[in-house]
Amino acid sequence: MGAGKTIRTIYPGIIVVLLSGCADQQSALNPAGEEAQSVYVLFLTMAAGAAIIWLIVIGLMIHAFREGRKQHPQEGSQALILWGGAVFPSAVLLLLLAYTLWLMPNVRPWLGGQEAAPRIEISGEQYWWRIRYRDSEGELLFETANELRLPLGEPTTFSLLARDVIHSFWIPALGGKMDMIPGRTNQLTLTPTRAGIYRGPCAEFCGTSHALMLVTAVVMERRDYDRWIAGRTSRATLPSSDGAVLFVKHGCPACHAVAGTEAVGRIGPDLTFLGERATVGAGALENTPENIARFIRDPSAIKPGATMPAFDMLPEAEIRTLAAWLGGLE
Ligand code: CUA
Repeated sequence: MGAGKTIRTIYPGIIVVLLSGCADQQSALNPAGEEAQSVYVLFLTMAAGAAIIWLIVIGLMIHAFREGRKQHPQEGSQALILWGGAVFPSAVLLLLLAYTLWLMPNVRPWLGGQEAAPRIEISGEQYWWRIRYRDSEGELLFETANELRLPLGEPTTFSLLARDVIHSFWIPALGGKMDMIPGRTNQLTLTPTRAGIYRGPCAEFCGTSHALMLVTAVVMERRDYDRWIAGRTSRATLPSSDGAVLFVKHGCPACHAVAGTEAVGRIGPDLTFLGERATVGAGALENTPENIARFIRDPSAIKPGATMPAFDMLPEAEIRTLAAWLGGLE
């Protein structure tokens, strides 16, 4: 087998391996939203254009090598520089600019009149996402963290904020990214076209655990979505339990809230429905009681720079009881 044939055999294999990592929850190449579709078409157009221009340039280079150091008439050389070096690049850039301007309204905040309630406000924190659902009047319905839900096929406009430093909200499968800047409210609209679970990384370096803050978006049918919202807004008082008692005794409510208990802290993530989230620590760990216990013992070991202090001085049995209670909140 010649070297060329070996490469031809291996190359598609490498491509498949490289691309398969993108095919699931976090890929701009597998759009599941109207805005992501626009971005995807723009990407394909630019990639195809770049490939054609690359082929022309390589063709010219091969031609130049074949011709060798021959004398060329001055007029022809100047025309080549004028058309190939100035007119052609200007025309290509102008075309791209026109196309992008035409595309831009699709990825702007949705201004189509009546907005689908509730509205969602997301705030970037070090290193997690505060998520607030508000009704059409702006009244807070409930707060949650790190995992949001969206109705299928409807535009949802997000208000994006930041409390500490600049973060960036980006769910590649649903749409483009938008920075979250302290002191400012940015708007972004996403219209999911396929039900599923999508993941987004923070897209602006915000500190030591920047790579460990992931947001999850669950896209569901309107019927299921309404049922989910209703479940969040009508929360009955939780029965007393050992876990709930320990939660209060060790001071957790200073930072965390659990609806249905006396815990109303707002510094850290709301833990009311921690059990239904896929992960602990905004994507840092899989959501299991063992991992919740690990997080309570030493958050900084899992998320460097996390503001929550270590609670490894608590008796192991108490940590386990707390973790089991928190993991069961759904
Ligand atoms: Cu938040 Cu990077």
